[in-house]
Amino acid sequence: MTQPLMPLWTEDSKILILDQTRLPQERIVVQVETPEQMHHAIRTLMVRGAPAIGNAAAFGMYLGAKCGSFQDHQKLIALLEKTGVYLSTARPTAVNLFWAIRHMEEFAHGLPQDTSPAVMLKALFQEAQAVLERDIETCKAIGRQGAPLLMRCNGILTHCNAGALATGAYGTALAPIYTLLEEGIRPKIYSDETRPLLQGSRLTAYELLAAGADVTTICDDMAAWVMAQGKVQAVIVGADRIAANGDTANKIGTYGLGVLAAYHGIPLYIAAPFTTVDFQCPDGNAIPIEERDPQEVREFCGTPSAPQDVPVYNPAFDITPHQLIAAIITENGVAYPPFSESLPRLAGENTR
Ligand code: MRU
Repeated sequence: MTQPLMPLWTEDSKILILDQTRLPQERIVVQVETPEQMHHAIRTLMVRGAPAIGNAAAFGMYLGAKCGSFQDHQKLIALLEKTGVYLSTARPTAVNLFWAIRHMEEFAHGLPQDTSPAVMLKALFQEAQAVLERDIETCKAIGRQGAPLLMRCNGILTHCNAGALATGAYGTALAPIYTLLEEGIRPKIYSDETRPLLQGSRLTAYELLAAGADVTTICDDMAAWVMAQGKVQAVIVGADRIAANGDTANKIGTYGLGVLAAYHGIPLYIAAPFTTVDFQCPDGNAIPIEERDPQEVREFCGTPSAPQDVPVYNPAFDITPHQLIAAIITENGVAYPPFSESLPRLAGENTR
């Protein structure tokens, strides 16, 4: 693979992110230097997508230690706890955020107590980098696991952005598509626009075009007709949180696609790493759903598109019931129903 597109990377000790709110018009790179700036970047979707949010949070924890002052191990732990509580308020649905905060806390607990502050800080930075690097390897594995399910499809529909921009690199739902491209297989990809914030048309179309994929963008309300015309043989999306029974939180509109896919006899695949599976949530009812600023719906790309005083309901995610999901593609293999049995079997040590 050539140099992958990445939403967050480091240069020396600088933490850099590509501001996704400005894509595709502008490629603005922002240096993040404080936990407040990382919180802002996550909350405003400069960095977004469940695994990328987790990676950002890992670096946010490091920044909490760097910007605070601690003289010993005990003070570091207290500082990280405070940073973790703060960062966890950035967004509620993607469980990767909470996973990364807890992971960094556990890592810090394991550091030798007599280590100097400078060495502890360096270790935290290296661990955040390791979280990012492991996520990239995980995405590649999801690509390998998912490609066989898609290789005979002429058309594939995806929603939101679960690609390189939503992860360390390569993506989850888009990783199998990148694997197919490497093998010379080039299916037509339909990318839902994904109102209100257009992650599908702004980000998925952007990164798939850059990769040389055959991508076509449609408005969200065109998906049923595209399916009815026999243009797609699979739907593949990412996830923000998967409950123990397989119920899946993902970008608003995914549930509707699941219903449409079932009606048309098309499989719906979820692609996600185990850092997105929340075994503590028995089912989708336990997953918190983020509600965002009504203005996102009253405007279209910053231009008013509705009466400015109309009441708005703006859930950012929905829950697709497990009965509508044909398979969950993970880095360890493909889980088939019943997910309450197949997910723990595949998770190995990843069950919490
Ligand atoms: O609000 P966003 O853009 O963070 O929503 C992202 C999604 O819903 C993605 O599909 C999900 O996080 C999976 S990313 C691999």
